Amino acid sequence: MCGIIGLASNKQAAPLALRGLRNLEYRGYDSAGMASIHEGHLWLRKDVGRIDEVNQKQGLDQLPGNIAIGHTRWATHGGVSQKNAHPHADCGSNIAVVHNGIIENHQELRKKLQDRGHIFISETDTEVIPHLIEQHVKEGGSLEKAVILTSQELKGSFAFIVLSTQEEGKIMAIKRDNPLVIGHDANGTFATSDILSMPQCDRVLFPEDDELVILSAKGITMLDSRGKKIDREMISPGIEQQEYDRGNYQHFMLKEIMEEPQAVRAATIQDKKLFTQLAMDILRARQVVITACGSSRYAALVGRYLFSEVAKKFCEVVMSSEFQYFSDSIDSNTMVLTVSQSGETADVTEGVKRARANNAQVISIINRVGSILSRMSDEVIYLNCGPEIAVAATKSLVSQISVFYMLAYTMVNQFDEAANRLKDVSQELETILSHNNSSLEGLAERFKDSLDFYYIARGINFPVASEAALKLKEISYIHAEGLPAGELKHGTLALIEQGTPVVVICPHDYTFDETMSNAMEAKSRGAFIIGVSDENNELYDHWIQIPKVDNLFYPLVSIVPLHLLAYYLAVKRGKNPDRPRNLAKSVTVK
Ligand code: AGP
Repeated sequence: MCGIIGLASNKQAAPLALRGLRNLEYRGYDSAGMASIHEGHLWLRKDVGRIDEVNQKQGLDQLPGNIAIGHTRWATHGGVSQKNAHPHADCGSNIAVVHNGIIENHQELRKKLQDRGHIFISETDTEVIPHLIEQHVKEGGSLEKAVILTSQELKGSFAFIVLSTQEEGKIMAIKRDNPLVIGHDANGTFATSDILSMPQCDRVLFPEDDELVILSAKGITMLDSRGKKIDREMISPGIEQQEYDRGNYQHFMLKEIMEEPQAVRAATIQDKKLFTQLAMDILRARQVVITACGSSRYAALVGRYLFSEVAKKFCEVVMSSEFQYFSDSIDSNTMVLTVSQSGETADVTEGVKRARANNAQVISIINRVGSILSRMSDEVIYLNCGPEIAVAATKSLVSQISVFYMLAYTMVNQFDEAANRLKDVSQELETILSHNNSSLEGLAERFKDSLDFYYIARGINFPVASEAALKLKEISYIHAEGLPAGELKHGTLALIEQGTPVVVICPHDYTFDETMSNAMEAKSRGAFIIGVSDENNELYDHWIQIPKVDNLFYPLVSIVPLHLLAYYLAVKRGKNPDRPRNLAKSVTVK
């Protein structure tokens, strides 16, 4: 996934576009570049490295002119290199493009263009776009027409922004199955992957697929795929600048962990009538399938236990990248529930497309307003937990789990009771986070050179083991596995050696006795047992204390210290937890 931005301003655009581009870096950060038009000349600079490194090397913010486009890359087609960095230009160096997405028919298009004499420099799929536009302009089309025709030749998902010496003062943007937001602020009009990149904006709009947006300092024009003008009202963006600010925290991830208690409370703020209707729709559905990826899937797995134990409703959780292989069993009697912080994850949106094709009802639990997924769903339940900037999901995960508590208890007509219990649990989280976490930091110091971490738990706590393992490996790069405690003896136990850290999530609930006996199996083979529990035990070599709460609420109080442990381990290993290597905040490619 990448970040794209374009700005048409009444002043030098590059410094403003660069500021917005920095706010998109969470989407990808292996290379970056910008382009502008000034006095009929295309200026283009790009390089490998993070945005500020490239700016230091190339002077991105020095580019002249009142229109500029920018890109920060997460490599998909073509390795990490300067020539593969965006923007990409046409043969005549009149047109430059930045793109997010995948052009599935790029090889066929590249061949066709090469046969017409176009010279390609990069290995990317993106580079076909400026050459296609150049070809259509050569054949007599206006730039608008050329961009529309180009988009119609592309297969796959894309959001791209174009500037050209032919139309100084204008940038153009178009998208399909990919995020693109159009906005306005005091400096002009802009197109971006994420509205958070331009927090000063005062009005926004979300173009539909294949609608061409033409931006100038004066305003915005929109054309449909036939080139016919469209009127679209701009709305207030509804974002708060300070939420995009790291404050006094060293990393966004720590800030967002500290916001987890608030995230629990925010999840309880729902339209009771609509929420109750949705909960009953889920309860009455003949078949319920929840689909999600990564941390969102682990939240869904907690939800699965809650639906069963509270509402006696069985459901299945299918990871989104595998969902398409189950579409034969999805029909109009199926309720598909999706969970996605970004609402842009391609695996999830792809699954929803198939679900809709089979006439299933789709309800989505999302954080980002205006996301693609929010527009593909019959109904949306918002997390309301504010922007989550760190790549690692923390407060959104906690918020998602809280929404599942609300849904499960609403199914048995306990909406208010659930909200009150969650507010009480959020106070417990405040206590956990207000405690001096030196013991967790000490644990991280002790195990910062570990090669492997194992997390085990049972029942509703098992998804917490998986989530904690994912958090650790994605930001510290320590290999980590989360597994049902009962599974340990079926193979993974062979990996336990003297001193191997094994985190056992075992509150005094219905899973305690059996989980402890599984922990003993690991201990007797030399494991260092880290017990996450409401009471200490002689089996533990280190005890992470959690408060006593109602049995089903232990996942919420267990995951918070384990998010902190992962954060401390990453920092002690000298990693940047906000920008883990190879990853991106929202994976908008399948
Ligand atoms: C979680 O820390 C990871 N960043 C990743 O697994 C993430 O949860 C996954 O990509 C799903 O993202 P989404 O919730 O935005 O769909």
